[in-house]
Amino acid sequence: MRNVLLLAAVVMTAAPAWAGDPIPSPARQSELDYMLRQDCGSCHGMTFKGGLGSPLLPEHLEGKSEDALADVVLDGIPGTPMPPWRSLLTHSEARWMIARLLRGLEQ
Ligand code: HEC
Repeated sequence: MRNVLLLAAVVMTAAPAWAGDPIPSPARQSELDYMLRQDCGSCHGMTFKGGLGSPLLPEHLEGKSEDALADVVLDGIPGTPMPPWRSLLTHSEARWMIARLLRGLEQ
């Protein structure tokens, strides 16, 4: 089991995305997609046009640093309702979510 995990880690690290950030597995991608729509959507709006949280449509995120946005997802924004997701997400998963939002989630 350990070897399988190690192998998976090596294979994923070798993926040529985001300068070394591993791409989540297809199964994990579906979970992240679901989480975006259910958990994030509950504040940011089911269509990400905004609600309690700011809009997360591509036109609102474009031009911002993807790394900084991923850090916002991991750490939250103190003093606002934006919670930290670090206990549920890795950095590369947060990066994947931001990239997903930038592509436009309806596609
Ligand atoms: C409980 C409500 C709530 C939930 C759940 C929530 N957010 Fe937020 N989020 C906010 C609020 C409010 C802000 C804006 C804070 C501010 O700057 O005033 C924010 C800000 C952000 C920003 C910064 C946007 C920008 O333009 O800089 C990102 C990115 C973000 N959220 C992503 C997410 C993601 C991804 C999830 C799900 C994993 C999520 N949020 C879940 C409330 C929430």
